[in-house]
Amino acid sequence: FSAFLTDSFGRRHSYLRISLTERCNLRCQYCMPEEGVPLTPKADLLTTEEILTLARLFVKEGVDKIRLTGGEPLIRPDVVDIVAQLRQLEGLRTIGITTNGINLARLLPQLQKAGLSAINVSLDTLVPAKFEFIVRRKGFHKVMEGIHKAIELGYSPVKVNCVVMRGLNEDELLDFVALTEGLPLDVRFIEYMPFDGNKWNFKKMVSYKEMLDTLRQQWPELEKLPEEESSTAKAFKIPGFRGQVSFITSMSEHFCGTCNRLRITADGNLKVCLFGNSEVSLRDHLRAGASEEELLRVIGAAVGRKKRQHAGMFNISQMKNRPMILIGG
Ligand code: GTP
Ligand code: 5AD
Ligand code: SF4
Repeated sequence: FSAFLTDSFGRRHSYLRISLTERCNLRCQYCMPEEGVPLTPKADLLTTEEILTLARLFVKEGVDKIRLTGGEPLIRPDVVDIVAQLRQLEGLRTIGITTNGINLARLLPQLQKAGLSAINVSLDTLVPAKFEFIVRRKGFHKVMEGIHKAIELGYSPVKVNCVVMRGLNEDELLDFVALTEGLPLDVRFIEYMPFDGNKWNFKKMVSYKEMLDTLRQQWPELEKLPEEESSTAKAFKIPGFRGQVSFITSMSEHFCGTCNRLRITADGNLKVCLFGNSEVSLRDHLRAGASEEELLRVIGAAVGRKKRQHAGMFNISQMKNRPMILIGG
């Protein structure tokens, strides 16, 4: 495995998340402020060709999984083409997308044909009126349609990302669990994380332990599944149910020790950790005509500076970072 993608703690970064756009057709409260965020001028965003050049380089060095994020990746006009071109890269095993689901039903047949292998859909409530409050737009039924389309086309499991916030949707955990009885879903309850502009506070966060207690009260037979390597999620299952439920415990029990993830932002920065603002512009090096060797040295130096773990929830809530919409999760 490439030394450039191995950090000083021996973690091998084989999973690359690429943000395709800073824009989104929703305005989720936990992701961005109501007024939106200042957008990067188009000329400073990565072109499709630049995205593919970088993807090719990372895959050559050992990345075997790429996830497309945003903003909302499915509003990039050439997203299908990007998937199709990534599919050509030898060594790339998984191409995933994390989407809000609004355009999913419409685009999925083409995306599947192009080679999309995994789908994660954000959905934080099963109550349409609450959906509109959380995402500040309409679209609940479109998202549900997207999830069902993904199941129909054979994606299994379809992962559903649910950011749990106290006073907002913590009363819906059991309703989400119920969805996994008959559908091949992996419902993932995510601890609310702090990012610039999202008004995070400790009291709004519902911890893994608390969520697990709620589930166990209703479902004492809840069974822990074996851990998948480098997964963000701890998985459980109710015996007999078709799907599973998981927890993404970034705040109360971080999983940095097995981190294998790197990120490229839509404006071309390599971000070695979701938290903290250590970034380096790959775009600028590309545009200055850097050779592969030079790019790899820049990447390797950034990976080499990656910290052992994030700084703890209270510290990261004070640190300058990007708003989530400009990172992509
Ligand atoms: P899979 O590839 O299906 O395992 O998905 P994923 O969990 O890697 O990605 P997804 O985009 O579905 O993100 C789900 C949640 O995990 C979001 O809240 C992300 O912000 C969070 N997440 C993803 N990667 C990391 C990471 O490296 N560190 C932390 N702390 N959280 C992450
Ligand atoms: N805390 C936790 N998860 C978040 N996401 C977006 N903002 C936050 C936050 N503040 C999740 C979304 C999406 C994924 C990319 O990140 O649910 O599914
Ligand atoms: Fe990796 Fe940083 Fe996430 Fe920890 S917080 S798992 S180091 S990206």
